[in-house]
Amino acid sequence: MPRTTTVPALAAPAARVHESLVLEPRDVRFDWARLPLHWVPDEPMATHILNVLHLLLPEGERWFVKVFKEALPLIRDEQLREEVLGFIGQEAIHAEAHQEVLDHLLGQGLDPRPYVRQVAWVFQRVLGDRPGPTPAKRREALIERVAAIAAIEHYTAFLGNWILNSPGLDRAKADPAMLDLLRWHGAEEVEHRSVAFDLLVHLDPGYVRRVRTMAMAGPLLVHLWVRGVRFLLAADPTLDGRLRPSWREAYRITRRGLLPDPVKSIRSGLRYLRPGYHPTQEGSSSQALGYLASSPAARAAAVRG
Ligand SMILES: [Fe+2]
Ligand SMILES: [Fe+2]
Repeated sequence: MPRTTTVPALAAPAARVHESLVLEPRDVRFDWARLPLHWVPDEPMATHILNVLHLLLPEGERWFVKVFKEALPLIRDEQLREEVLGFIGQEAIHAEAHQEVLDHLLGQGLDPRPYVRQVAWVFQRVLGDRPGPTPAKRREALIERVAAIAAIEHYTAFLGNWILNSPGLDRAKADPAMLDLLRWHGAEEVEHRSVAFDLLVHLDPGYVRRVRTMAMAGPLLVHLWVRGVRFLLAADPTLDGRLRPSWREAYRITRRGLLPDPVKSIRSGLRYLRPGYHPTQEGSSSQALGYLASSPAARAAAVRG
């Protein structure tokens, strides 16, 4: 069983924060054969706003795995190394789980590949490894990528916490298998929310890099998300280009509880910049583990061993 410590909010040093965190990858499987194209019934825009996750995460999380594998030789703390290995295992499964949804979309006549190629370009070329002239420069570039991942992981934990506390999706009768995918993933994001940040602090405890990379990652995520929604609405074969994204519609969907409140999202991003910030101040490990204990996919994975 995974277990976490309850961590004092502000003053805990990183070495104690991850004192007894054990991360286990759960080899979940989902059957998408009966997933409707609009899996939030009568809400194509809400469906596609959430579907952007499937467009971004496979490439993004494969990039996380690559960067963290490169960072392993820099880690001088055995417990942190174990957590990074657990993180790598979980993110690799996340990427494949979302990839299967992309394959299903393709089978339903919505071809996600043009947009996914753009996302791949961002992660592999813009944020990818570049041969540095010296080992010191290569190390510096690697730590910068770890910092970018720590900033993105702040948002994945925020979204994970939201999806675990989003009864609006149940009320709207969203597809139960998709909800389980999103909540299983969200719960693991909450479970491992400290790892990237602790790795960053281990490699560079400075404040400037944290601010700089969040200032880059936040707008980049918003940009990719808005582009992704536009792409999906245009590519949806049942909509025929009739549904255009609009902030008014997004506001209505948010009021219905199908999306996170944008004001809370911005406030969350700003909390990351507080000097005393630590990811354990956001979300609840016990709630996440409670969901993982009841998730149909995670339970089936535990039975399979
Ligand atoms: Fe993930
Ligand atoms: Fe994550």
